[in-house]
Amino acid sequence: MFPIRRNRRLRTNEAIRSLVRETIISPNDFLVPLFVVEGNGIKEEIASMPNYYRYSLDLLKEEVKTLWSLGLKSVLLFVKVDDALKDNKGIEALNPDGLMQRAIKTVKDVCPDMLVMTDVALDPFSSYGHDGIVEGGKIINDATVEVLAEMSISHAEAGADFVAPSDMMDGRILGIREGLDQSNFLDVGIMSYSAKYASAFYGPFRDALDSAPVDMVNVPKDKKTYQMDFANRDEAIRETEMDINEGADIVMVKPGLSYLDIVRDIRNSFEIPIAVYQVSGEYAMLKAAAEKGWLDHDAVMLEQITSIKRAGADIIASYFAKDVVKLIS
Ligand code: PBG
Repeated sequence: MFPIRRNRRLRTNEAIRSLVRETIISPNDFLVPLFVVEGNGIKEEIASMPNYYRYSLDLLKEEVKTLWSLGLKSVLLFVKVDDALKDNKGIEALNPDGLMQRAIKTVKDVCPDMLVMTDVALDPFSSYGHDGIVEGGKIINDATVEVLAEMSISHAEAGADFVAPSDMMDGRILGIREGLDQSNFLDVGIMSYSAKYASAFYGPFRDALDSAPVDMVNVPKDKKTYQMDFANRDEAIRETEMDINEGADIVMVKPGLSYLDIVRDIRNSFEIPIAVYQVSGEYAMLKAAAEKGWLDHDAVMLEQITSIKRAGADIIASYFAKDVVKLIS
């Protein structure tokens, strides 16, 4: 009781503050998203994501080596697919020589110990820009799950360590687990985007991959029939519990900052590694404010990343990973 207890004693100087600090950020916390394109010598900046790039496979090698040298040991791969290869069923996603499959091999070639996770969803391959097959104005669940399982097997064959289904179809974790096991990929893990919300924060990502839902009759304009309603909290627990029961090794909350209540709920409810995806719109917001001189980029970045970990994240997927690691090293 005051004045016996004066809490400010533990804040007197940096030495005591660092001694009692509860949350420490390290390179081990990060999963680095990487965008891959066809071609050679390509490192193109994404307009709405300053200082973030799409790489062709040759330059991806350099980037992966840089990440490894910074102590960043896990990547999450996304591909930008040529329009000509897109269809309603994601046929190209199963091509053993497709861009994703070659990207996986490329990373493993230059850095065999790098943990490779792959995004599993139809949207980059979909002529409609949806995460599933579109029929009669709807996203068809079960047929999509079959494709996602095949896609996961294909990524495992190419050498992926983990698949990360980001589609929010019902039952996909079980479908993928069974598919992997039947193909004898018993050690390939699943990081499930368990509580993925229908969020307007994904805008810059859809620019990066040219994967936004198309404006056509009989094609839903948004992803609200599969991604979660951002007004819901209890539903995140139900979704996560089902994914755990279906065999998810890691669960995820996405986006990050606006959803830290969900992260803490899940932390308090389950004993399983939790990933949080600080998404493209969160990255873009800080970059824009810093460009205007309205926010201190590095200070806000570190505060945000620390908040995500403090809320309960074990793993943070972030476009800031490299910047943070350089800052704290
Ligand atoms: C695709 C996918 C999306 C993101 C990751 N995987 C976009 C979407 O669901 O529309 C968003 C990532 C980001 O915004 O950084 N299934």
